[in-house]
Amino acid sequence: MDINQINKELFSFLDNSPNAFFAVKNMCDILDKNGMTRLYEGKPWDLESGKGYYVTRNDSAIIAFRIPKKDYKGFMIMASHCDSPVFKIKANAEITVDDHYVKLNVEKYGGLLCAPWFDRPLSVAGRIVVRAEDGIETRLVNVDRDLMIIPNLAIHMNRQVNDGYTYNAQVDMLPLFCEKGEESDSFMKLIASEAGVSAEDILDTDLFLYNRMPAAMLGLNNEFISSGRLDDLQCAFASLKGFVEATPKDSVAVHCVFDNEEVGSGTKQGAAGSFLKDTLHRINSSMGKTEEEYLMDVASSFLVSADNAHAVHPNHTDKSDQTNRVYLNKGVVIKYSANQKYTTDAVSGAMMRAIFDKAGVPYQTFTNRSDMLGGSTLGNIAQSQVSLNTVDIGLPQLAMHSPYETAGAEDTAYLVDTARVLFSSSFEETGNGIYKLS
Ligand code: CO
Repeated sequence: MDINQINKELFSFLDNSPNAFFAVKNMCDILDKNGMTRLYEGKPWDLESGKGYYVTRNDSAIIAFRIPKKDYKGFMIMASHCDSPVFKIKANAEITVDDHYVKLNVEKYGGLLCAPWFDRPLSVAGRIVVRAEDGIETRLVNVDRDLMIIPNLAIHMNRQVNDGYTYNAQVDMLPLFCEKGEESDSFMKLIASEAGVSAEDILDTDLFLYNRMPAAMLGLNNEFISSGRLDDLQCAFASLKGFVEATPKDSVAVHCVFDNEEVGSGTKQGAAGSFLKDTLHRINSSMGKTEEEYLMDVASSFLVSADNAHAVHPNHTDKSDQTNRVYLNKGVVIKYSANQKYTTDAVSGAMMRAIFDKAGVPYQTFTNRSDMLGGSTLGNIAQSQVSLNTVDIGLPQLAMHSPYETAGAEDTAYLVDTARVLFSSSFEETGNGIYKLS
């Protein structure tokens, strides 16, 4: 596989996906180009074997699936997430300072690193909901230019800043938008004009800041990639690319990307919501299968929860576990946690290793240090809706939850290969703890 070509496609996806709404829209476009049919949750589904479909929820989560044949066996699922820690613009956002500046009122979304948001061009993107003739309508807006900045306080005014600083989100993190002019509401007027509507017709908004710096290759031999939102658009992209390239044979291939992982997944479009369960049930009933057949299928299914993992940090090597040390460009990471923050157990870990071997993909293992609390992800949360063999994996990266993260240039291709083989394979439960991989 051509690494440069994959990174070019990945960069284009990252640069054009400033947040979940755009990531989902871009995935829809790729699925359209590959001949998949769009479905709507509010309309009937009339599915046929041999075809591919996709459905979105809230414009910020997407499930695509391909049904190889009428008597399919189980679902091969890869789930990732398309939201990232960021600042959300509050309602009534404009704050005038000293009758001179206008800054915007924002709040944190997710567990973000504050420091790297300072002193760089930012802009705003998201969705607005506008009045329509017979109701309301959603529009995506991306102000595609350098627009705002969160200026640091000069070191002369805070001499101790390099000894550690506590960021106050309501004080330190508000972006400077413009100088105060004659007009009021300039921010909403800008959004309206970008969307081609009048400001009075905007009923509500979900707008977020984003870092304007595009994705880049770094390192002596271009061995690193850096971008905003690698967590988790790198996995979402690889899952989609593998899905499109796969040849499903016995199982339904399911590419699933949830929203709101960074805030606990507890929304209708998050992993704790019913989106995956509802979709699998509708596939089952549209293909004329009984509820018992659904449960048999779930027993022969496999969920790969793909969310990025921490590589050993070059300046903080002691933060990583002693014997499970993850490095960039060394392959896909299997994540373990005794407390099941990660779902991997011996069976699902072995299933995953069998898939890696089939794909010829290198892999490594991650656990947190036993004296450190780690993060969690969507894999275990999804179990309350659909309970099945699940493994947690991810791609190695540094600076997780910074608006500019770093990963390995070779690793995306490893996950594309993994996804393609996963979506082309099946696990059939033939006995207790016995699974046939084909
Ligand atoms: Co993540």
